[in-house]
Amino acid sequence: MALPAQFATRMSRMKASEIRELLKLLDQPGMLSFAGGIPDAAFFPAEAFAGAFQDALSPGRQAQSLQYSVSEGYLPLRQWIVSHMARLGVTCRPENVLITSGSQQALDYLGKLFLSPGDTALVGWPTYLGALAAFNAYEPRYDRLRVGENRSHAEYASAAEAAGGRVKFAYLSPDFDNPTGLTLTPAERLQVLDTAAALDCAVIEDAAYQGLRYDGDPVQPLLALEQAQKAGDLEACRTIYCGTFSKTLSPGLRVGWVVASTPVISQLVLMKQAADLHSPTLNQIAIHQVADALFDPHTAALREAYRSRRDAMLAALQDHMPPGVSWTRPEGGMFIWVTLPEGLNAAALLERALAEEKVAFVPGQAFFADGSGENTLRLSFSNSQEAEIAEGMTRLGRILTSAN
Ligand SMILES: Cc1ncc(COP(=O)(O)O)c(C=O)c1O
Repeated sequence: MALPAQFATRMSRMKASEIRELLKLLDQPGMLSFAGGIPDAAFFPAEAFAGAFQDALSPGRQAQSLQYSVSEGYLPLRQWIVSHMARLGVTCRPENVLITSGSQQALDYLGKLFLSPGDTALVGWPTYLGALAAFNAYEPRYDRLRVGENRSHAEYASAAEAAGGRVKFAYLSPDFDNPTGLTLTPAERLQVLDTAAALDCAVIEDAAYQGLRYDGDPVQPLLALEQAQKAGDLEACRTIYCGTFSKTLSPGLRVGWVVASTPVISQLVLMKQAADLHSPTLNQIAIHQVADALFDPHTAALREAYRSRRDAMLAALQDHMPPGVSWTRPEGGMFIWVTLPEGLNAAALLERALAEEKVAFVPGQAFFADGSGENTLRLSFSNSQEAEIAEGMTRLGRILTSAN
């Protein structure tokens, strides 16, 4: 039986991620990889987690921690998130919070909630490729969310209608975006909110890197700005905030969250019930204990460490990139986005970089919904020591100089 013929049409949009295929090649000795955007395992609060798991599995607590629990998520963790959000300028209640299996699950659910085939999702050009992968399953059309440019909502709307659907949401990661590292100013955030209001669509605010700011002034989340416009009423807000503990405490425990108005949360809870009932109880209890004990000092130490790595990468790029190559200067996060001269192809360069210099990066094309961006690439500085960064950028410089 030729089963691929029976696969649903949505599968034609789901392709193997370039990053995952690439990661298979990175085990060779001497390879310096700036490809995967992952936290440095050396900074995981492993001892605190060991204690938290031990407590959660103690005789008095194991009946709860090993048991099924509610789909909305572990209440003390949702209460912790309510206070965390308050510090970011968002006033919410536990009823506005859903715990998800990483923020990736939230992106999948939001695609499922909003997108019928042919509907339009507004995304950055480039944008987080995991968001495209999640949304692709719901067969949308993508249009470029233009921030700081003059594009009227009528143009977005008529293009969406011509494609047989409506604009359902704008998706963006406003702080230290993956892949560009860029941050939206308050004025740009307000412009996105205005466009969404004119289109009457949702805003999906992906805040994965929000806590990792190394310099510059913090900017309020879109949800906080919108809530202020609506006289504090979260129920009147169209912004849906997706948070995660992956970049600060541990990605392996798969704990993220969504903050939104209660009608949105109720729909997402139905999806959670249908998909996996709830996120693992034990992991939620452990994350809560560790976050409660050390979130602030831990993230302060992380910021210190990642700031030096970012600085090392910016300095090494300055020293080793040939003329015609430009790059972003992020105030936080894990990524620097590099633009090569027109006509250079980053995917072809990667093959040479791996074979000749044992240095890896992610070619930028996979981050563009239209497959453009051939001459771009993403570098991650979070998982390499300063000396490795200096050596890696020397190698990359050699490859680019010879390609120029
Ligand atoms: C922008 C962005 N959003 C969401 C995620 C998903 O993270 P998680 O599911 O671990 O919370 C990532 C992971 O790399 C990301 O870069």
